[in-house]
Amino acid sequence: MTEQKWVDEAWEKVTNKISRTSERIGANFPHASENGQYVLAEPHWWTAGFWPGILWLIYRDSKDENLRILAEDCEQKLDAVQRDYYKLDHDMGFMWTLTSVARHKILGEEESKRRALVAANLLMGRFNPNGNYIRAWNPWTEGEDNSGIAIIDCMMNLPLLYWASEETGDPRFKGVAKKHAEMVLDHFIRSDGGVHHIIVFNPDSGEKIEALGGQGYAPESAWSRGTAWAIYGLTLTYHYTGEEKYLEYAKRVAHFFISHLPEDFVPDWDFRLPADVASPKDSSAGAIAACGLLLLGDKVATHESPIYKKAGERILQSLYNHYSDWEGLEEGLILHATSHFPQGKYTDNPLIYGDYYFVEGLAYLKGFKELFW
Ligand code: GLY
Repeated sequence: MTEQKWVDEAWEKVTNKISRTSERIGANFPHASENGQYVLAEPHWWTAGFWPGILWLIYRDSKDENLRILAEDCEQKLDAVQRDYYKLDHDMGFMWTLTSVARHKILGEEESKRRALVAANLLMGRFNPNGNYIRAWNPWTEGEDNSGIAIIDCMMNLPLLYWASEETGDPRFKGVAKKHAEMVLDHFIRSDGGVHHIIVFNPDSGEKIEALGGQGYAPESAWSRGTAWAIYGLTLTYHYTGEEKYLEYAKRVAHFFISHLPEDFVPDWDFRLPADVASPKDSSAGAIAACGLLLLGDKVATHESPIYKKAGERILQSLYNHYSDWEGLEEGLILHATSHFPQGKYTDNPLIYGDYYFVEGLAYLKGFKELFW
């Protein structure tokens, strides 16, 4: 099938399925699909932007007013989360980019711009200048001190800061994003292109203490979704800064990712596992990486471009052909994702972020190249 033909066919199926599913989900925050139905998460959970993000991706093409209203209602529900403050962590980038920034970019809504700027200020406030990192989380348990923790996922929160500098003309947001990104090059990206999930710093001196395995198998293994966050996040940092070093690192991580893909182009949850550890797929890592690879393919020299674009397309096509259920009752779009293998959490389920990035990748292949990020 030609590229455009399968993409158009997939887009139509996605549009129909989301329209159907939206009648049950409404303006809520699905996270993982269990037994065919999406389970809702609290609005403060980091995944809250992905459902409205999908609605905006489809609305941008179809102009389906029902989807617009639901996406706007989701955005409004997040106001209570923003006011609550205590539950906000660095994932404000994911949350307000796919709600408020998306709406502002599509419809020019001023109230959305204000909300996204508040989120950007709160995200910037998590920067620790001692170690040049954005603090990831708040304490998960009473008394826990995780003020020294930075994680690779944060590369996808930086676009909110780049956007805020572009909107306001105030370079502070971008300055903080660049400091964090430079720290990532120094501490997260290994020479072979694999990445760490977590780095712990001494929050007072800023010295690096150790790497942790986090959602990957071990500190020196290679969590595939973390690798995918790095590909896309580094490419976006290159997009917003024009600094060549980010392109070079994005290519390095992309080569690591592509060279570790199995025959069906969809990664296991960790690329470096002992033989006796179970190795379920993480289709969400495939979808995220595909979006990063497509953008990377548009940033590199023409002769290099097919390496990345073809890999991105092949991942998406494999997800479409082999990891989906278009005819049955399953609500999730993309099957077989792993959320948190070490905690045994959702190790073979559709996940809303796998679905989101699949739809974003398809939209990009259809020619919608303006990024929400
Ligand atoms: N940002 C959390 C995850 O990738 O699971």
